[in-house]
Amino acid sequence: MKPEKLIQSALKAQNKSVSPFSKYPVGVALLTENGDIIHGCNIESKAYPTTLCAERVAIFSAIAQGYNKFKAMAIVTKDGGMPCGACRQIISEFAGNIPLYVGNSQTNYKTTTIDELLPYPF
Ligand code: THU
Repeated sequence: MKPEKLIQSALKAQNKSVSPFSKYPVGVALLTENGDIIHGCNIESKAYPTTLCAERVAIFSAIAQGYNKFKAMAIVTKDGGMPCGACRQIISEFAGNIPLYVGNSQTNYKTTTIDELLPYPF
C-alpha cells in the first residue's frame, strides 16, 4: 500500500482523537500483514497520566483483535511530531522494524523506522 493511502487513513483516525486537554490530536493507521488497517488515536483522561497515546492504542487494539504481524504504520499530528519514548518501546516490541510514515498530511511526511528512533532497545 502507498504511504499516502495509509496516511489518509491515519487522518481519519485523528478525527476520533479525544484530546480536550492538550488539543494535540494524534491519528495512527497500522497496516496488518493481511492488508487490514487498524486505527489508533490518543485518548486523554481528566486523570491526566492515564491518557493513552495513539500508537499504543493502535498496537494494543490490533493485538486484542488477533493481529500480530504488521507491514507499516502512519502517524499524523498537526506538526509531524515523532512518537514518544513509551510508544517507541511498544513499536519496537510489538510491531518490529516496519516503515513509519510520520507527518501532518499526505504530502508532508518523513519515512523512518524504529531502529532509527530507538537504537539499542530494551
Ligand atoms: N501523544 C500521542 O498520541 N503519541 C505520541 O507519541 C506522543 C504524544 C499524545 C498524548 C497526549 O494526548 C497528546 O499527544 C499530547 O502529549
